[in-house]
Amino acid sequence: MYAVAGASGQLGRLALGELIGRVGADKVVALARDPAKLADAGVAVRVADYDRPETLVPALAGVERLLLISGNAVGARVAQHKAVIDAAREAGVKLIAYTSILHADSSTIGLAEEHRQTEALLRESGLAFVLLRNGWYNENYTGALAPSVAHGAIIGAAGTGRIASATRADYAAAAAVALVSAQGGEVYELAGDAAFTMADFAAEVAQVAGKPVAYVDMPKADYAAALEGVGLPGFIAQMVSDSSFESSKDQLFDDSHTLSRLIGRPTTPIAETIAAALA
Ligand SMILES: NC(=O)c1ccc[n+]([C@@H]2O[C@H](COP(=O)([O-])OP(=O)(O)OC[C@H]3O[C@@H](n4cnc5c(N)ncnc54)[C@H](OP(=O)(O)O)[C@@H]3O)[C@@H](O)[C@H]2O)c1
Repeated sequence: MYAVAGASGQLGRLALGELIGRVGADKVVALARDPAKLADAGVAVRVADYDRPETLVPALAGVERLLLISGNAVGARVAQHKAVIDAAREAGVKLIAYTSILHADSSTIGLAEEHRQTEALLRESGLAFVLLRNGWYNENYTGALAPSVAHGAIIGAAGTGRIASATRADYAAAAAVALVSAQGGEVYELAGDAAFTMADFAAEVAQVAGKPVAYVDMPKADYAAALEGVGLPGFIAQMVSDSSFESSKDQLFDDSHTLSRLIGRPTTPIAETIAAALA
């Protein structure tokens, strides 16, 4: 039996679909804090709330392999992930695949710290585990393109850093492959086959939109202030600008092609995601 924790999220839904396609719906359990969100998933759904440890052992009963999708409550995640790992051990889960961050052990991106601590918890757990060290999603860059096109400018603090992103669907496929095939101990550095700079990205947006769009690089603090200015909460603005600035040092770059090898096809080019977003 396989389980996906965080199955109601954007990556989780895709991973669930990939897993069902590989092993069949009768061998998959979807875990979510709000099962109603998965009413249409076509698999058994169990309540599993990372903040309510009492839900976790029952949710994992009979599960041998668990895909633990990192939560989105930045700052609370180490305790949440620890609760899941502890419950997995108690419930007799044999292997956990965890969605970490690219090059977690050396990453200077602020968000990496909670992933490093979760990886340490997995090592200490005695369970077999697989690290899916995901790079950035293409969708992080294409989620709000309309205002950028309208203003003819994409702002950031990424300088000329190379970004090797891939789609959520690419990472979801890798998660399903790894969950099914891993022996334990694998560390996958997962990123897109091709890298772009933010100037390359803006040029592609301009090409697809048919109007001039330039990349405007700014100091990290100015970028954070600009994000706050358009309504982002302060801590999210800081987090986004930190990740952008660190990407100027190639922290989101990897050319191992591990992701495409794992999924047996090329990763989705950023141009394709831009075209879909602007269609
Ligand atoms: N690589 C990247 O570029 C990137 C970008 C953003 C985030 N991430 C990380 O990757 C994860 C997956 O990405 P995503 O795009 O799928 O994010 P998402 O759509 O926000 O999904 C997050 C999932 O975590 C679940 N969750 C949050 N708190 C929970 C709790 N207390 N108990 C149980 N489940 C909980 C959410 O459940 P609900 O549906 O109930 O909210 C949801 O299923 C994120 O959570 C984050 O850690 C990576």
